[in-house]
Amino acid sequence: MANKNLAQNQNEITVLVTGGAGFIGSHTCVELLDEGYRVVVVDNLSNSSAAALERVRTITGVADDRLRFYESDILNRDALKRIFSENDIDAIIHFAGFKAVGESVQKPLEYYWNNIAGTLVLCDVARAHGVKNIVFSSSATVYGEPEFIPITEACPKHSATNPYGQTKSMLEQILTDLYVGDNEWNIVLLRYFNPIGAHESGLIGEDPKGIPNNLLPYVAQVAVGKLESVGVFGDDYDTPDGTGVRDYIHVVDLARGHVAALRWMGGKVGTGKAIGLGSIEGPTQTNGTRAGVGIFNLGTGTGSSVLDVVKAFSQACGKDIPYQIKPRRAGDIAVNYAVCDKARDELDWAARFDLSRMCADSWRWQSNNPDGYNAR
Ligand code: NAD
Ligand code: UFG
Repeated sequence: MANKNLAQNQNEITVLVTGGAGFIGSHTCVELLDEGYRVVVVDNLSNSSAAALERVRTITGVADDRLRFYESDILNRDALKRIFSENDIDAIIHFAGFKAVGESVQKPLEYYWNNIAGTLVLCDVARAHGVKNIVFSSSATVYGEPEFIPITEACPKHSATNPYGQTKSMLEQILTDLYVGDNEWNIVLLRYFNPIGAHESGLIGEDPKGIPNNLLPYVAQVAVGKLESVGVFGDDYDTPDGTGVRDYIHVVDLARGHVAALRWMGGKVGTGKAIGLGSIEGPTQTNGTRAGVGIFNLGTGTGSSVLDVVKAFSQACGKDIPYQIKPRRAGDIAVNYAVCDKARDELDWAARFDLSRMCADSWRWQSNNPDGYNAR
């Protein structure tokens, strides 16, 4: 079946958002709805709450028909078929998957099954319904120990040190192979750096289960009094203050990057700039959509250390955040930040918010919702 045409008014475009109840997915739903897209979410709520989508409705004020929710697993082929039959889906933004690095080492089978098999079922059902436009959540983890810093998309991929990272790398390859085998596919691989922050309303944000693994939710829970002190994993790295440096990006900026990627896919040749290194440029389809595989880093281009984050969060919440220096965490790299010129030039996208704004928004979410959505 021929692919769906994305070169049309966004009010007529329906986007299937897998994992749309999750942290990045819920923020992306807000941006899509604000831009006039129709959204269909499929999420099995394995790491999220339906309350997030209720809050997306509150923020955007959209009528029910613009945001539909299916509580289903993307591994459930029949459920997916029903979703594609009941909705005239044009494109997919694919967030659904497991994401905890440490857990993936303990549960490789679950990670490979959910992330890889889930994506295969999704793409197979989508193809059968003539939908070959997909934006995929990849990660800076595909660069492994990066060959150079700051990281451009031309930086070679290195093997990931854990099954989670392997699934991202493998899925990038699988999706690229889909395009090679059938040039009607439009594929965008977005390599996120470290998403943090929350919507400025304080209504949606990151709601990790149990004790957070990632720095920001940990710091936020110390700030709100749920945890005692931040463990800083190593102060002997070759960085200005000895602690690890990352490229933190506001989740709303990241969400806007997905809208920009959809626009890019729908753009006609001549309206956008040439697809540069790391992308496979494909011909324009007869329906006007831009085919190919676009690969983009999404970060701010600025590195911040663990202590920078602790300091910025202290300022945002108006209190000292206690911390203790701990040994290095296995598998961590010293420095990781991006060059995002390609996204700026081709997607016409750039991050707008700095670390202090990320912390202020994160604090608003955490202090208004100390127990997250609390609805699991
Ligand atoms: P999240 O866990 O909040 O969101 C993922 C969502 O997918 C959850 O709502 C979960 O319930 C759902 N889900 C998982 N398996 C599913 C399945 N089989 N069927 C249906 N729904 C399923 O995570 P997030 O932080 O929003 O991340 C979204 C995506 O971005 C993930 O693919 C993640 O690997 C990727 N990513 C995240 C980060 C990060 O630091 N948060 C960094 C790089 C890439
Ligand atoms: N850190 C601490 N204390 C903590 C948690 C983290 O000091 O309690 C440090 C880490 O050592 C690192 C920095 O804070 O220097 C950021 O750590 P995160 O766990 O928040 O993020 P990572 O950069 O390790 O991992 C993130 C995503 C992964 C993704 C990876 C590479 O969570 O999904 O980026 O892109 F694979």
